[in-house]
Amino acid sequence: MRYMGGKHRNAKHILQTVLKDRTPGQLYVEPFVGGCNVIDKVKGERLAADSNEKLIEMWKALQAGWVPPLNVSEQMYQEIRTNESDYEPALVAFVATGCSFAGKWWGGYARDRIGNRNFCDESRRAVLTQVQTLDNVKFVHSEFLNLEIPDGSLVYCDPPYNGATGYKDEFDSRTFWDWCEQLSKNNTVYVSEYNAPANWQTVWSKPVSSSLTPEGSGKRGVEKLFTITSENNQCF
Ligand SMILES: C[S@@+](CC[C@H](N)C(=O)[O-])C[C@H]1O[C@@H](n2cnc3c(N)ncnc32)[C@H](O)[C@@H]1O
Repeated sequence: MRYMGGKHRNAKHILQTVLKDRTPGQLYVEPFVGGCNVIDKVKGERLAADSNEKLIEMWKALQAGWVPPLNVSEQMYQEIRTNESDYEPALVAFVATGCSFAGKWWGGYARDRIGNRNFCDESRRAVLTQVQTLDNVKFVHSEFLNLEIPDGSLVYCDPPYNGATGYKDEFDSRTFWDWCEQLSKNNTVYVSEYNAPANWQTVWSKPVSSSLTPEGSGKRGVEKLFTITSENNQCF
């Protein structure tokens, strides 16, 4: 689905690297699963988490057979936004992202210039296609710091980029990198970011033009995939 910072375009490239040494039966974990635009292309045992509780409720509801609405008017969009607690969390999350500009949480009602696109229906069809590949994924509402990850897992992190704005919650990148180093003592960890601490290695990169670059809307940045080896990890 369209989701702010979603990796729809680069998921296949990222996964070529992330999955290349996955061992049979190894658990694949995404602590920042967002719009599921990467995990929906992974097979086998999977654990997906996000700090956005309503978003996780949406994915669980979709797994249980919930079908989002075909159409949400701008008036309805504003009504649900103003009175979130009167509506099911799954519907709130679907409208807040799937019916919003660029998939940004309550980022403004999505409409195109000519006016003949139905973004709600596009998002509806996208999530209904995605959920077909997510049936055995365990979805958990959790902050990354509290997520229980079994040792020996393969972990792909796609956190809010350092300096990016517009997500539902604020994000502390420094704490995140410390947590990654601890985690990589007993797991294989990959991270999507523009920059990383010096002891992390770039294993894939691609120039991007994104509204999420730290420099601001439309500027170009280089999106990278990082990992860390035991020689470089000061936690060992
Ligand atoms: C870049 S998006 C992930 C996009 C996803 N990879 C995709 O392709 O659709 C980052 C996600 O991190 C989540 N997030 C932000 N702070 C978090 C935290 N402290 N713990 C866990 N998730 C968090 C946001 O809700 C958002 O869904």
